[in-house]
Amino acid sequence: MPTVLITGANRGIGLELARQYAQAGWDVIACCRKPTEADALKALKGNVEVKALDVAKPASIAKLAVALKGRSIDVLLNNAGILGRRVGFGKAETKEFLGVMQVNVLGPLLMAESFWPLVKKSKQKKIVAITSGMGSISGGANGGSYAYRSSKAALNMVMKNLGNDLGGKGIATAAISPGWVKTDMGGKSAPLTVTDSAAGIIKVIASIDAAKSGGFFNHNGDTIAW
Ligand SMILES: NC(=O)c1ccc[n+]([C@@H]2O[C@H](COP(=O)([O-])OP(=O)(O)OC[C@H]3O[C@@H](n4cnc5c(N)ncnc54)[C@H](OP(=O)(O)O)[C@@H]3O)[C@@H](O)[C@H]2O)c1
Repeated sequence: MPTVLITGANRGIGLELARQYAQAGWDVIACCRKPTEADALKALKGNVEVKALDVAKPASIAKLAVALKGRSIDVLLNNAGILGRRVGFGKAETKEFLGVMQVNVLGPLLMAESFWPLVKKSKQKKIVAITSGMGSISGGANGGSYAYRSSKAALNMVMKNLGNDLGGKGIATAAISPGWVKTDMGGKSAPLTVTDSAAGIIKVIASIDAAKSGGFFNHNGDTIAW
């Protein structure tokens, strides 16, 4: 069966992605910062391996790369993300802004740099990231959330650029928005369940290939304008 590596798999959309891939028979390398506390993840049925990973720490990424040496990864799924404070204009803070960029932008890039050889060895050869409609520049940002919006726009560029750089190696990429989803991040008013969002994301991932690489998609398969 194919293998998927998922970051931030202990709760929210990442946990549901792990559940659905495992249910479909995939081998799931489910990564989270604190495996000892990841009870819901460890309770999943199927072939789920729980691994420690903090995408904000290059040493943690390097350690996982050593642990997975020799393996092959069909889908590298960069899901981990943080919102940061939803503050408006005039409230930017360096440490907080860079912290959001570190997790949401540099994390997925370093993951791709560390794991692309394992993706290249696989049959499906895909690297994807969970982005946000809030990262769409032409989508008419309505102010605020500077760090988060900027991070997802930058993540979109990372995924597009990776598509260019890794396309010659047969690797396809995509930036996929999950929609507005009921999670700790999305809150209770969100219209989408993790079940429907994750099911859509998995379908979109299945649809990408070398010919359909480097795009920005919604969870329902629609293309989103950059
Ligand atoms: N929910 C929405 O409406 C929505 C909308 C658009 C985009 N998204 C995106 O969808 C993705 C998942 O969001 P979610 O709603 O499931 O959020 P969530 O419920 O807040 O879960 C976030 C996940 O990311 C992990 N994470 C945070 N920082 C990390 C780090 N440094 N290293 C490794 N893992 C880290 C968290 O782990 P800990 O438990 O250790 O903190 C958690 O597993 C994110 O990229 C988010 O930006 C969500």
